[in-house]
Amino acid sequence: MLLAFVVLLTTVVPVAMATGTTSNSGSKKLVLGTSADFAPYEFHKVIDGKDQIVGFDISIAKEIAADLGAELVIEDMGFDGLLPALQSGRVDMVISGMTPTDDRRQSIDFSDTYYKSKQVIMVRNADKDKYPTMADLENEKIGVQKGSIQETIGQGIPGAKLTALDKISDIVLQLQTNRVNAAIVEDTVAAGYLDDVIGLAPAIPDEEQAEAAIGIRKGNTELLSAVNGTLERLKSENKIDQMVTEASKLMADKVKKDQNIFQVFWQYKSFYATGVGYTLLLSALGVIFGVIIGLIICLFRLHDVSILRWIGTAYVEVIRGTPMLVQLMIIYYGLALTLGINFTPLQAGIITLSINSGAYLAEIFRAGIQGVDRGQLEAARSLGMGRGAAMRFIVLPQAFKAVLPAIGNEFVTIIKESSIISVIGMVDIMYQASVVKNITYQGMNPFLIAAAIYFVLTFILSKLLGRLERKLSASDRR
Ligand code: ARG
Repeated sequence: MLLAFVVLLTTVVPVAMATGTTSNSGSKKLVLGTSADFAPYEFHKVIDGKDQIVGFDISIAKEIAADLGAELVIEDMGFDGLLPALQSGRVDMVISGMTPTDDRRQSIDFSDTYYKSKQVIMVRNADKDKYPTMADLENEKIGVQKGSIQETIGQGIPGAKLTALDKISDIVLQLQTNRVNAAIVEDTVAAGYLDDVIGLAPAIPDEEQAEAAIGIRKGNTELLSAVNGTLERLKSENKIDQMVTEASKLMADKVKKDQNIFQVFWQYKSFYATGVGYTLLLSALGVIFGVIIGLIICLFRLHDVSILRWIGTAYVEVIRGTPMLVQLMIIYYGLALTLGINFTPLQAGIITLSINSGAYLAEIFRAGIQGVDRGQLEAARSLGMGRGAAMRFIVLPQAFKAVLPAIGNEFVTIIKESSIISVIGMVDIMYQASVVKNITYQGMNPFLIAAAIYFVLTFILSKLLGRLERKLSASDRR
């Protein structure tokens, strides 16, 4: 069953994907993994009305790709996910202002370093004098990026209560909203966030410099030496400093902060439109495969053969008893790291959604079938119908009608739950809302817009299902 499912997916999904990205097939691809929340290294920026990832890391990546004669493909994800993505072969190299620490060297290789920065403490301007020395950060609430060396530094501060988040912009929001009182970041990056609310404390947590290098999968010596070659050329041409200056300029020209919700929506409508497309695609395929899985599992659960019943029950219990986020991580990262099965975010999303909703739908179907009076089946059989025909013409139609509201609920749930898939970089409504948040530095409006869109989608769906329900129950009133 699983096999058939995977085969189906690999045939359907490429077709679905073709609508998303266009690539000139044939040419060599170089896939870059990065966490584009780190201006001026890498960040989102609307240029000519289009969302683009820019920064000096990206400029370096472009040079490397050009030297290799390859097409650069950028995969934006949480900083935390970069190492597993590189190890599993999902990306070819990581350029993300990443410091080549000994810990990381255990799992990946690094190029020569290309940039150096210092650690600083970001605070609200009002608190500027509160932390004259590093020791004053003790027992303080501190924000850091998950998986970064700043997290390690924070862990070394006695009594510090750390909040580790995926994106730097989230940390700044936490700082603005008094959830943390300080954040440890790198000076070059902090510069982009300084304004009338956010400032720098005079204390410097760590004199030691944070270097940045390019991550390459262990054993990929060919790419490693090519990368070092390009870096050497850029350094000798003084290009890197130039790229940093350019990126800092881009970063400095910030977006207007005071746009209201309608302005935000209007300016970024194309972002949300893309998100809606993917959310609908994801949910529709999730529903279709979910129903198929649900039917199969339901038949298993009602089967006479006890081993099949057992499998059905085990499936439902295990899937229902574990969080969908965990299932997603296993399917997306776990399978790649252990079995080398590399699903795209869309594929992993569809598989997770359908496996997950399959369990719930199986239970709904079972309740429906078991809810039909046994007498119905017996009457049909005594009229000479076979078991299959009795099921098809007598039991299932009644069962379907009875559980339609529950099925409708499940569809609505799938649309909403699909937002979880955004954590692996699936470009759905939720993901796009975060991108808009990162660009606009606004914490509320991008998500209110996303909420409104989800609501409209689910509302339309439940209206449609309500209609179908009324139509089907018309016969009851006769
Ligand atoms: N240099 C730090 C580290 O390696 C932080 C890098 C964060 N990079 C990013 N793109 N967010 O841990």
